[in-house]
Order: sequence, then C-alpha cells, then structure tokens
Amino acid sequence: MSQHQPETKKVTTLRLAAMKAQREPITMLTAYDYTMARLLDAAGIDILLVGDSAANVMAGHTTTLPITLDQMIYHGSCVVRGARRAFVVVDMPFGSYQISEETALSSAVRIMKETGADAVKLEGGAHLFSTIQRLVASGIPVVGHLGLTPQSVHQLGGYGLQAKEGEAADRLYQQALGLEQSGCCALVLEKVPAEVATRVAEALRIPVIGIGAGSGVDGQVLVSQDMLGMEDSFSPKFLRRFAQLGDLIKGAVGDYITAVKERSFPSESESY
Ligand code: KIV
Repeated sequence: MSQHQPETKKVTTLRLAAMKAQREPITMLTAYDYTMARLLDAAGIDILLVGDSAANVMAGHTTTLPITLDQMIYHGSCVVRGARRAFVVVDMPFGSYQISEETALSSAVRIMKETGADAVKLEGGAHLFSTIQRLVASGIPVVGHLGLTPQSVHQLGGYGLQAKEGEAADRLYQQALGLEQSGCCALVLEKVPAEVATRVAEALRIPVIGIGAGSGVDGQVLVSQDMLGMEDSFSPKFLRRFAQLGDLIKGAVGDYITAVKERSFPSESESY
C-alpha cells in the first residue's frame, strides 16, 4: 500500500511550473476511463494523460493512428469525470492538427469544450511552432512531445531509441527550446538517451516528463496498464511493473468460474 499522502488542491499549470522550480518530481500516468481515473487520482497522481495509446490499450490497434477525435473526446470526458485533483491532458489524435492551423485550433477547442480537460498534447517539433502559438494565444495549454513520436511510426521505421547521435540530439534540443518559446506548458520526451533528456530538462523552464528518458528529467510517465502488469506482451527496458494485476484478474476470474460451475456462488446469504 502506498504511503503517499496527496494534497487535495487541484493541479494547475502554475503548480506544475512550481514543482519544476522546487525540483519536486512530477508523476503522470495514462487513463482512458472513469474508474481508472478515479483510482489514480485518489492515489495522488499529478497528471492524468488521456493518451492516444488508447488506440492500442483500449481498442487493440497496433499503432495509435486509427483513433479519432470523437473517440479521444469520449475517453477524455470519462477521465475528467473521474479526476478531482489531477491535471488532465488529452492527446490530439493523428490527423486532428496536421492539416492546417485552423483544423488544429478547432480540434483543440472541441477537446477543451467537450471534455473539460486542462490541456492538449501533440507530437512534433518545428513544423508545429506556429500552430502551438495559435492554440496558446487562444488560451489552450499545450504539452509538446518529442523523441519517439508514435504517430510518426511509419516515418521513423519503428519504435526504437531516438536522438542517439550528436546531430539528432542537437536537433531535439533545439526543437525542445522552440516548443518552450512557442508557449508549451510542459514537454514529454519519449525514448531518448538519459544524457540527452537531462540536457533538455536542465535548459528548459517548463517541466520535462520522460518515458524511457532516464532520471534526470522533471517527472515520469508510463502507460498505466503496462506498469500495473495488465499487459505482458510488451517489455521495453524502461518499463517497471509495479504490480501484476493481470495475474490477479485471471486468478479472480478463474475463482468466479469455478464457483459458478460448482454452484457455490451465489450462496444463501448472497441471494434474496
Ligand atoms: O499516448 C500515450 O500514452 C503517450 C505516452 C506514452 C507519453 O503519449
């Protein structure tokens, strides 16, 4: 059982900035539904990410590309209803922000209005600076995402480590500075060498949240179903499983099946 006693005050962009300034690590996990959001929020998580990884985790797709704006809005609104304290970030899905700045703004406005989320997140660097400025100028907090950007998996050629070489690392560093200058309130760095991620986190004033980016960043994010041990087909080096809920669920369901088959459930005290 966790000993962490969460504060009850709602996490805001200002609180996240203060946590970075005070060097207090920021915790972030994905959530796609009300029940999980309530549990993670009650445990004291700082940020709930309604990731487009919902395409994989909730819908069984092999990439994040198929999930739609309407589906992200559905997941986002479920999570917001379950979150009292956590800052809720909703991913802008593939195709909802790349076509034009107008499309991006209208997608982001829909997410903010229809989910009640606190911020949106989008993937990519320099080509999005003016789009991000437009969203931020409209009052929408934006979280950036660099390194492994799963919406570009076909261009990247897989889900490997990014920014390995000097030139690629420098490019990522410059893009991170540009995202901060464009108005991002935080940045997710996925699957980059710890040294590269630390350099970025030390240079930026906004919080840098890592996944597979080492311990020198300002916070960590994982996919909840992965860190809870509900998915065993995926074991990247950066993933620590903090529980084995998959085994627990299968054991409990096995017990239920046995009890129903042998007619020991429901008992007299469980009947009307
Ligand atoms: O969609 C997602 O879950 C994400 C995290 C892996 C950062 O973007």
